[in-house]
Amino acid sequence: MSKRTILVTGGAGFIGSHVVDAFIEKGHTVVVLDDLSSGDPDFVNEQAIFIEADIRSPQIEEIFQKHKPDVISHHASQIDVRKSVDDPLYDADVNIRGALNLLELAVAYKTKKIIFSSTGGAIYGTPEELPADEDSLPRPECPYGTSKFCVEQYIMLYSRMHKLAYTILRYPNVYGPRQNPQGEAGVCSIFTGLMLDGRQPTLYGKGKAFRDYVYVSDIAAANLLALDKGSGETVNLGSGIPVTVKELYTQIAKLTGYKGRASLKPLRRGEVEGIYITGSKAERVLGWKPQINLADGLEKTVAFIREEKEKEESTEE
Ligand SMILES: NC(=O)c1ccc[n+]([C@@H]2O[C@H](COP(=O)([O-])OP(=O)(O)OC[C@H]3O[C@@H](n4cnc5c(N)ncnc54)[C@H](O)[C@@H]3O)[C@@H](O)[C@H]2O)c1
Repeated sequence: MSKRTILVTGGAGFIGSHVVDAFIEKGHTVVVLDDLSSGDPDFVNEQAIFIEADIRSPQIEEIFQKHKPDVISHHASQIDVRKSVDDPLYDADVNIRGALNLLELAVAYKTKKIIFSSTGGAIYGTPEELPADEDSLPRPECPYGTSKFCVEQYIMLYSRMHKLAYTILRYPNVYGPRQNPQGEAGVCSIFTGLMLDGRQPTLYGKGKAFRDYVYVSDIAAANLLALDKGSGETVNLGSGIPVTVKELYTQIAKLTGYKGRASLKPLRRGEVEGIYITGSKAERVLGWKPQINLADGLEKTVAFIREEKEKEESTEE
């Protein structure tokens, strides 16, 4: 595998920072571009070059001039479904205009490939058949899913117009260490954070909503594989296993020792009742298969958040 210079946008965020670690472990040169709107500079691998900037800014041309990335791994995004419903203009501005700024620079500076973190959870809406595969019709039910789908279309257009290679990875619900327990997305971390504080979690969709969950190191592994495989392909990175919010709640309550009851509320605007996606094309095209099952992944996630809380408490004392 040849060594590349890879620009990871959103590399200070939850998933992006794990992807950065995986690239660096394999000896690639990594440049992280992140505006820290939700990312954390402490998550950025010390061997990466870190540049704090907005993907929409004209100034990011300097990064392309100086580093001439071979590959862009695009993770920077507005990721909150509810925010996208409340403020679709902001969602489109970051997700669509930001991606277009990167695509224009990729063409101008002869970047060879873009790997895009899209969403299997929000692109398909409520499919007629489950699990959704890559032939299922994209019918998003929120602006976030629509902006991600739109970026997919732009990437394919730039591939036709400018021969820019691409792999689109549609993620399921990703979970694991570094996901923000105070964030608006990431149910596993949110439940864990609340339960460890003895606070009551809310189960939207009254506990019946279901999703599929893949541990973050498996997602990082798929990004690594996509450096050399899957050009011109769109692949779902699903586990193919649906898990209800209630089941998730029960597993996390066991791990955290939480004994309280959950509050049950209806789904919020933009959220679908149930979605899960396959991973069979990813296995065929990338040779990818998730390695960490939900029980083990949740154990690692709870241990990480518990440790972070203990560190915070000891610095407060
Ligand atoms: N977490 C999931 O379950 C999931 C599911 C499907 C798709 N995705 C996609 O994966 C990617 C990473 O998501 P995440 O969960 O790690 O979220 P995250 O919020 O932890 O990471 C996003 C990063 O992008 C940065 N960012 C946001 N706007 C920016 C801008 N305008 N310019 C520069 N940097 C900016 C943030 O500071 C943050 O570090 C996103 O593209 C998201 O849509 C995530």
